[in-house]
Amino acid sequence: MRAPESSAVTHCRRATARATVDLVTTPIDATSTPAWTELTALKEALVPDLRGWFADDPGRVERFSFELADLHVDLSKNLIDDAIVAALVRLAEETGVAERYAAMLRGEHINTTEDRAVLHTALRRPAGASPALVVDGQQVDHDVQEVLEAMSAFADRVRSGEWTGITGKKVQTIVNIGIGGSDLGPVMISAALEPFGGDIEARFVSNIDPFDLAHKTKGLDPETTLFIVASKTFTTLETLTNARLARDWLWAGLEASGAIGPSTGSGTDAEAQRTDAVAHHFVAVSTALDKVAAFGIDTANAFGFWDWVGGRYSVDSAIGLSLMIEFGPESFRELLAGFHAVDEHVASTPIERNVPVLMGLLNVWYTNFLGAQSHAVLPYAQQLSRFAAYLQQLTMESNGKSVRWDGSPVTSETGEIFWGEPGTNGQHAFYQLIHQGTRLIPADFIAFANPAYPLADDGRDVHGLFLANFLAQTKALAFGKTAEEVEAEGTTGALVAARTFAGNRPTTSIFAPALTPRTLGELIALYEHITFTQGVIWGINSFDQWGVELGKQLALQIAPAVEGDQAAFDAQDASTRALLEYYRAHR
Ligand code: F6P
Repeated sequence: MRAPESSAVTHCRRATARATVDLVTTPIDATSTPAWTELTALKEALVPDLRGWFADDPGRVERFSFELADLHVDLSKNLIDDAIVAALVRLAEETGVAERYAAMLRGEHINTTEDRAVLHTALRRPAGASPALVVDGQQVDHDVQEVLEAMSAFADRVRSGEWTGITGKKVQTIVNIGIGGSDLGPVMISAALEPFGGDIEARFVSNIDPFDLAHKTKGLDPETTLFIVASKTFTTLETLTNARLARDWLWAGLEASGAIGPSTGSGTDAEAQRTDAVAHHFVAVSTALDKVAAFGIDTANAFGFWDWVGGRYSVDSAIGLSLMIEFGPESFRELLAGFHAVDEHVASTPIERNVPVLMGLLNVWYTNFLGAQSHAVLPYAQQLSRFAAYLQQLTMESNGKSVRWDGSPVTSETGEIFWGEPGTNGQHAFYQLIHQGTRLIPADFIAFANPAYPLADDGRDVHGLFLANFLAQTKALAFGKTAEEVEAEGTTGALVAARTFAGNRPTTSIFAPALTPRTLGELIALYEHITFTQGVIWGINSFDQWGVELGKQLALQIAPAVEGDQAAFDAQDASTRALLEYYRAHR
């Protein structure tokens, strides 16, 4: 975006028609910009006609297709024309997207409600990046590289067998215990990069439903299992509860195999053996190393990060330790390089060719002008089975808000409901609604030219068949099938309408040569910056998440009532009391 230089301004300021605005504290109201007025008029005049637009404009595909590092992004099947794109670009300019991005990179405290910098982009700056990034007195680059090196050294020790369990056996399984941003990134990437894995299996426990821990530890040998407790705050109820359950599981298993003595044994010995077991089988990732120590994990085996890394932006911090062990430090560095390539593109590419910004603008077009409420993400890669779940936290925890970063109410609809499943499974489930339902659902299709496992069916490349489905779906959604075409196939009567497809269902196609650590990093960073762009236009602080707090507080208040405390029961509302009674009657 050709971001402004930090030396020129302390805070990013932008001159509007009315005043000079400090963008760190005061959002620009997008709805009062000339671009918004123009887009409103363009929406009124819009008659979607992808068939006609493609027929009349041979340059459309080329004009609306872009290269973003290794990703090829085709926006041509969206409900846009040159005038709409130009107005969207002006909207980004008039709301200061580039200035705020620059402020973020500089380490300004754009997370105003928590008074923090937002520096996940610093996590993937290459070693030796110049000039060095110093924020609030912290040597950011130095600290990031130091943790990466510590993680790499630890990962190598585990992978080589130098690090062992208490009985000297090599680690066979790592179990990451975390939730939200301390789980969704690692679990999504672990599945996505499965073909790059070695002989260490990774499992992920997140839910406080005891089934999760019980299920994920099933069949594991405590002597060869290493737990990673991943929690930015190290206060999260789910994670700490699961960590204690895991510790009990470990002690019980080691006791059963005779690796440690019975807990009833002579006091100090039994205690020392348990402490030793934790030291061999538990490591931690957190910003709160004092709390890690209080849990009983040696801080020598803890990997830190910083409050300027938001949970949902943290997979490229030490939160990715499980990935580094599973796939090796080199693959992790490749992942980071993918992220960084996209960060660079965003910083240096004019908005009219800036792919993440353009995609964020398209989402604003659909949400605020065409009335879309949800957004489908449809990877044609089974390994991306958890990608939509990952994006749900990234996008919905970031932009699902109704106040702006100065505390004033938002002035337009915000947030999109992200959802999806890999094709072709989705085709046999919910695509019907996208094709012929009454709702507008923009969809991102993600595909890879090369398969992870090239298999042939009777000599026929199965991946080719798979990709034919991706191409067929985007074509059907864009161009539909007219009544005349249906009739030409011999269909008559009421069936004609049922078999007709209106088309003009917008899609974006994201194509890459293969799903690798690098292209995956690029893909994640793409969505981070799409989310950022939308947040700026809506005036939202995309980096806090106060909306999850109330439920956490109430759960702690209700827990005693569940456990039988009458005063806590009496303090509940009528519906909650009735549900508690049902629970009591059925336990
Ligand atoms: O769901 C709220 C949240 O704070 C997320 O933002 C975060 O990723 C998750 O909880 C886990 O938090 P922590 O890493 O501190 O355990």
